[in-house]
Amino acid sequence: MEHSASEGRGGVGARRRDFPLLDQRFHGKPLVYLDNAATTQKPQVVIDRLARFYQEDNANVQRGVYALSERATSAYESARATVQRFLNAAAPGEIVFVRGTTEAINLVAAAWGRTRLRAGDEILLSEMEHHSNLVPWQIACQASDARLRVVPIDDHGNLQLEAFEPLLTDRTRIVAIVHVSNALGTVNPVREIVRRAHARGIPVLVDGAQAVAHGRVDVQELDCDFYAFSGHKVFGPTGVGVLYGRAAILDALPPYQAGGGMIRSVTFDRTQYADVPARFEAGTPNVGGAVALGCAIEYLSAIGLDDVASYERELLDYATAALAEVPGVRIIGAPARRTAILSFVVEGVHPHDVGTLLDHEGVAVRAGHHCCQPLMTRLGLTATVRASLALYNTASDIDALVAAVVRAREVFA
Ligand SMILES: Cc1ncc(COP(=O)(O)O)c(C=O)c1O
Repeated sequence: MEHSASEGRGGVGARRRDFPLLDQRFHGKPLVYLDNAATTQKPQVVIDRLARFYQEDNANVQRGVYALSERATSAYESARATVQRFLNAAAPGEIVFVRGTTEAINLVAAAWGRTRLRAGDEILLSEMEHHSNLVPWQIACQASDARLRVVPIDDHGNLQLEAFEPLLTDRTRIVAIVHVSNALGTVNPVREIVRRAHARGIPVLVDGAQAVAHGRVDVQELDCDFYAFSGHKVFGPTGVGVLYGRAAILDALPPYQAGGGMIRSVTFDRTQYADVPARFEAGTPNVGGAVALGCAIEYLSAIGLDDVASYERELLDYATAALAEVPGVRIIGAPARRTAILSFVVEGVHPHDVGTLLDHEGVAVRAGHHCCQPLMTRLGLTATVRASLALYNTASDIDALVAAVVRAREVFA
């Protein structure tokens, strides 16, 4: 790739210098960080914002009558407004701060499942779900004698839309679907899935963990009912994430967890719950985390999601072509739309060994089942090597990856 192209429109790749962690060496080699689907690194502004929160703004929120608590509350609510704009939600009350995608889905599966699921009901999800969008629904099914139905994928890793339609029945209560597959990078046609589900009055939850850092997400355009993502996968801190819920549906949900902050009044006989989103934010929230997440989103939005998407698309094409040329490398899946994630296997070398050998070259990738064991079973694999991109990766990272894979093959030849 040309140097100018490798930094992308608007110098996206050049933003690497904003991320201090990347400027390190491991095993004597410069770090090439390609495990962004697991977690992303943080720009200095986000690290500074988190530190500044604890240096200047820290107090408990919503309850204080003093200026410092008001400042913390205002920073927290301003982060909520930032997330609202980021997702184009209709109102700040549709944004619930949670621990991450996992907690967001557990919240819906528990609160919604408890009140809406009956014996014989069905929950529809796909063969490519992360365990986080599968096991909570299994638990909800066990509690209600409902059952899971699964939309299959084709051999390229695309969702089989023609199989989706007949699986939507009078018994389907919710569709829970991943926006971007963390194992294959497949971008699912969420808008179309929502259209078909809504035509039958069925709500849709979207697991957006792997989508939000790589392109624009507009929940009103998608028309989904729930959207979940994790702060740490979008350049924010760990321990904070977001559940978007359409106001009408969120308003009707009972609490997930109970305690301080989620009540209007309590007696020993009965409790009246607070309005949303407070109803779903029991206990002291991760205020600093939410504030720093707001800062991460502002950082990303200032670069521009469209520029990030086109830069990463170019980088992914470059990586796909380069890896495909390495003898013995098989790229897993060839979905119609893919973003930021490439899974592959190397003939004769276990993925874990590939991962370890790459680490010795300074290249950090993930090897394993990626919390998608049913998908691995469908693909006839137990594990893959996964390289996943973020806006700070460059063509030279891809060159280092490819060179390290070539060396890994040589070691096992
Ligand atoms: C598609 C998908 N869903 C859910 C999760 C869970 O995210 P977290 O562990 O941040 O809750 C992940 C994490 O890798 C993911 O990739």
